[in-house]
Amino acid sequence: MKKIHALVLPFPAQGHVIPLMKLSNYLSEHGFKITFVNTESNHETVVASLPKQSNSKENGIRLVSIPDGRDPGAGERDFAHLLDSISASMPNYLEVLIREINESSDDDDKITCVIADENMGWAVKVAKKMKIPAAAFWTASVWLRTVHLHLEQMIETGILDSEEGVPTQQQMMQFSPDMPAMNTDMFPWTLTGDSILQKSFFRSIRSNTQDIKDADWFLCNSVYELEKPNFPLNKNLLPVGPLLLAADQQEQLSGNFLAEDSTCLSWLDQQPARSVIYLAFGSTTILNKHQFHELALGLEQTSQPFLWAVRPSLTDIDAYPDGFQARVANRSRIVGWAPQQKVLAHPSIACFVAHCGWNSTMEGVAMGVPFLCWPYFVDQFLNQSYICDVWKVGLRLNKNDGGIISKEEFINKVMALLADEMIRARALELKDISKKNVSEGGSSMTNLTNFIESVKSKLQ
Ligand code: UDX
Repeated sequence: MKKIHALVLPFPAQGHVIPLMKLSNYLSEHGFKITFVNTESNHETVVASLPKQSNSKENGIRLVSIPDGRDPGAGERDFAHLLDSISASMPNYLEVLIREINESSDDDDKITCVIADENMGWAVKVAKKMKIPAAAFWTASVWLRTVHLHLEQMIETGILDSEEGVPTQQQMMQFSPDMPAMNTDMFPWTLTGDSILQKSFFRSIRSNTQDIKDADWFLCNSVYELEKPNFPLNKNLLPVGPLLLAADQQEQLSGNFLAEDSTCLSWLDQQPARSVIYLAFGSTTILNKHQFHELALGLEQTSQPFLWAVRPSLTDIDAYPDGFQARVANRSRIVGWAPQQKVLAHPSIACFVAHCGWNSTMEGVAMGVPFLCWPYFVDQFLNQSYICDVWKVGLRLNKNDGGIISKEEFINKVMALLADEMIRARALELKDISKKNVSEGGSSMTNLTNFIESVKSKLQ
């Protein structure tokens, strides 16, 4: 029988490449051939970060790239320019890529399905134009998707201005009676801290939300029980999460932009059960020198062992307090990029100090680890609400009048979290729910299986 050949297209950011790679690994193990399309610069980073022994072709996943259309001189962190250049140039590059693949392949190897990140919603239009079935994949919370689905209505009713999505007044919004209320100042596109970016971000969200409408399937990295009230508002959306790498990850691609430092795992093996504070802030968070310094002092003053993922771009190179690393050397590990899923699954981990990115949120929930929330921007504040107010598996960290999370606040909350048996019990309950969902017969697993069968049926 002819093989499915899926072209998978993530938005070009770490928090999007990882979940789509997890999905690709799964589909590849279930007979799909995958062409995974990164932008050129991300492609180089992903390939450079691959463990030496990996062979993506053998895994059934081929890594390819197309340009993102950015001006050569554009700054790496100029996201507004990136968003604009993606929508202006990438549809054409994608169409050319698909044509090239199809023209150079025999019938059995042509692209038979496109799986596009909903943040690249225009790719669904490209696929439809080329008469290829398309799946739209949502990488964040369904709650956020619900907000996006109400944008046009909120513009029409004057809740938002149509240019930048600025709320005309602050008010509480509740999209269905069973959903948590949210203040309009939590709308993620208003939390970028930059009005040019906000405008591009809002424009991109609006057009992607329209463009995905013709997709044949809608998937998301969530769990039905965790976001139940949202699903009636998100027609046909199938949760398939939490997406995880298989426990034996040797054969799987991670999509990491930085090489993992796995040496911390043997160090974790030597730590007592439920003793280690794990801190990681995802791929985008920046902590200013003062904040980073204060956090380091807070860590030093707790007596707990800790594992801290400090990406090179997290803070200034000289932000550590003088002599800090030597003083904490006997009870800590600092790595550039942690093998996060394995770390969270380790019995020595007591809690997760997290920026509340959706992938980190799903991974922490799946492993039953209590959270200390340190959101940085966009949807991370919504995710914090889920963790602290709805699921009750974590605590907030509050900033002081100077806009800093003080070492005293950090120490008090860590100690409160570690002593909180209710939170721990609840975290284990959610772990159980997550595990059931991705086990045989669970709803996420059933949705994935049905998706695979449905894609196959389009081939016949
Ligand atoms: C971003 C936004 O922050 C997030 O809110 C949005 O939902 C997706 O895009 P990012 O900041 O990268 O994502 O955070 P997150 O969504 O948590 O993704 C980070 C991924 O990197 C996770 O899968 C995590 O396991 C991985 N990671 C992070 C590591 O493997 N090692 C690390 O040291 C840090």
